Order: sequence, then structure tokens, then C-alpha cells
Amino acid sequence: MTDILITVLIVSSIAAGLALLLVIAERFIANYGQCKITINQERDITVQGGKPLLSALTEQKIFIPSACGGRGTCGVCKVTVREGGGLLLPTETPFLTKEEIDGNVRLSCQVKVRNDLAIEIPEELFNVREYTARCADIEDLTYDMKRFRFELTEPKAMDYIPGQYVQLLCPKYKGNSEEVYRAYSISSDPEDKGVIDLIIRRVPNGICTTWCFEHLKKGDAVRLNGPYGEFRLSKTEAPMVFVAGGSGMAPFVSILHFMQKTNNLREAVYFFGGNTIRDLCLAEQMKGFEKALPNFTFVPVVSRPEEGDGWEDETGLVTEAVKRRFKVLSGYEGYLCGSPGMIDAAAKVFTSLGMPEDKIYYDKFA
Ligand SMILES: Cc1cc2nc3c(=O)[nH]c(=O)nc-3n(C[C@H](O)[C@H](O)[C@H](O)COP(=O)(O)OP(=O)(O)OC[C@H]3O[C@@H](n4cnc5c(N)ncnc54)[C@H](O)[C@@H]3O)c2cc1C
Ligand code: FES
Repeated sequence: MTDILITVLIVSSIAAGLALLLVIAERFIANYGQCKITINQERDITVQGGKPLLSALTEQKIFIPSACGGRGTCGVCKVTVREGGGLLLPTETPFLTKEEIDGNVRLSCQVKVRNDLAIEIPEELFNVREYTARCADIEDLTYDMKRFRFELTEPKAMDYIPGQYVQLLCPKYKGNSEEVYRAYSISSDPEDKGVIDLIIRRVPNGICTTWCFEHLKKGDAVRLNGPYGEFRLSKTEAPMVFVAGGSGMAPFVSILHFMQKTNNLREAVYFFGGNTIRDLCLAEQMKGFEKALPNFTFVPVVSRPEEGDGWEDETGLVTEAVKRRFKVLSGYEGYLCGSPGMIDAAAKVFTSLGMPEDKIYYDKFA
């Protein structure tokens, strides 16, 4: 028994040693030189080999959406790699469907540029620009949410569709040794093209949110790029149900501004879920939208009202509130934004009430 254990230990140590050597060799010895990346069979760029494809493209001002800063945990940074991408990595497979794997879709943060590559990316990503901006205002919304107003300085205006998001560059700061990008939905009035409002919820020990909450000050210069994303109002006249709590509210604020400006009379019921009344925010702005949009209703739902807080409105889970208000949702469209867990739960309730799956639109914040 002891012999077997010793053998296992020796073999594991040799394997670990070899793996370490490979990492060191890859990092300090390997030199891949200049590599050519052919994009959509029509455009070549030359990059220094050895970097992840995502960073190599970013350096060339080609911005692929990403939500985890290249850590391989969001699955957002997909591109099609026709040639030169090497073997699919185990870190990629959880995020790819069989069709995507068969179609050579890869996570660009996981593919290293070691030789020439041929890739395909959606044409609209060429319209994504990098912007510099100035933080013009920071407003407390709740104990863990703030609204940041950024005035664009160069270029001075961004054309975006309400519901889309930008990537904010979080710089290095004490405790964070590398620049990272994080995705944030735009919550401003799309008519005001020179301003980008973001509603950001603090994530304990989160790299970017710690910077936003503890380091970013009014007047500071920031960099962001965008716009990205397919989340938006459909062009139909169908009545709608929105569900989003916390910072998931951000794209709906922009969408509601747009509905108000275009005098949109579609029925829309917005269920906003919070654990306690401390989680509720922007009540006045929502009342304003209710006044301006005769067919819009805002329904705040508190799952755990506390004694003495005077809460008399909807209680329990936001999905329970949806079921109390609607017995059938067959003619409706559903719009969901926030954590994957909340979105999956709400989508299940929508379909159980007869809403077709292809009428449910969502933006997962992860
Ligand atoms: C399309 C899209 C739009 C988004 N829009 C918004 C928005 O409008 N407002 C907003 O506040 N956020 C939004 N997010 C989330 C945002 O991009 C970041 O993931 C979030 O702010 C955390 O970043 P961080 O660098 O502070 O945390 P990280 O350093 O990335 O994470 C630290 C730790 O917290 C965990 N974690 C990450 N995010 C969360 C979370 N939300 N809740 C709990 N744990 C978490 C991570 O798994 C990690 O373990 C959006 C995400 C996507 C994909
Ligand atoms: S950037 Fe998140 S998985 Fe690639």
C-alpha cells in the first residue's frame, strides 16, 4: 500500500513539474514572432504572437464583447476561428454548443496567437469604437448601487440602441495589477448621445466595482468601448412584461426613456424585485414614466419586508408576483435582465403561462 502511494506521489510530482516547466517555457522562452490574423477573409492585421486572441484584437482596436475580462468564465467572447486556432481547450467547452464546436466557434480569450490565424467576427463589431469620457456625476441609489454619469469627450457622441451595453475599462489600482474590461448596460436617455449613465451594483471584492466605488471620482477621465448587444425592444406592438431587480434595471431605464420620447403606447408591466425595501430605487423616475406612458406600470416587489418598514405593496418572489397579476401570457413578450438564476426562473414562469420561448428576450449579467 505504501509502495503504491509513493509511486502515485512520484508520478504526480513529475507531472506537476513538467506542467510547470511548460508554463515557464510558454511564458518566458517561447517566441512566436509576428503573426497575421485574417478577419472575415478581407482584412489582415499583424500582431505580436504569444497573447490571447482577445487581447491581440483589443490592441488593434477591434473590440470583442467580454464580461469577465478574459478569465474564461463568462463565455461571451466567441469568435469563429477558421484556421490556426489549435485544439479546443477544456476551459472553452462548457460555453459552447455542439453546433458552435462543429462551426469552429472559440472563446477568443482562451485561444492563444501562436501562428497565423483566419477568423470571422460579426461585421457590426467594426462599428464598436473606443471612447474617452469624464465622470460627471456619481449618485447613490441604494446602499450597494450607484449611478455613474460619463460625458463623452472623444468621440463626443455614441449612437446606441436602448438595451445595449458598453465595456468600461478598469485601470490598475492598489490591489489590482492589470487593466480589465467589464460590461455595463447603458441606462441613459438615448437621445442624449453625449452622455452615458451606468447603474452599477457593488460586488464584494469585485475588481471593477471596487474601483468604481472606492477609487473613481467626479472629474476623472475613463475609457470605455461599445455599443454591444442584441437586447432591445422588438418592433411589434405586443404587450410586454419586464422583470429585473438591482442593476438589471439599467437597460430598462434607457428603454423607458426611448418609449417616452417616441410616445410608445405598448402595454408594459415592469416587476422590480428586491430583498428588502433598502434594495428599491429610482421610484420617482419610475413614477415619472408611469405618468408619461399611460400603459406602463411599475410593480416593486419586496421578498422580505421587515416589521415596521410600512411596506404594503407586492411581497414574495418577483416570479410569484408575476403569477398573481397574470394568469395567461400567451400574447405577451418577456424582457429579462440580471443574474442567470433570476432570468432562468422568470423565463420558466413566462413559458408556464403560455409565453412562447422565442418571445422571451434577456441579457444575462454573467
Ligand atoms: C451584458 C452584461 C451587462 C451587464 N450590465 C451590468 C450593469 O448594468 N450593472 C452592473 O452592476 N453589472 C452589470 N454586469 C455585470 C458586470 O459586467 C460585472 O460582472 C460586475 O460588475 C462584477 O465585476 P467586478 O470586476 O467588480 O467583479 P469580478 O472581479 O469580476 O468578480 C469578483 C467575484 O464576484 C463574482 N461575481 C461577479 N459578478 C457578480 C455579481 N453580479 N453578483 C455576484 N457575484 C458576482 C465573480 O464570480 C467573482 O468570483 C453586466 C454583465 C454583462 C455580461
Ligand atoms: S472574456 Fe469571458 S470567457 Fe472570454
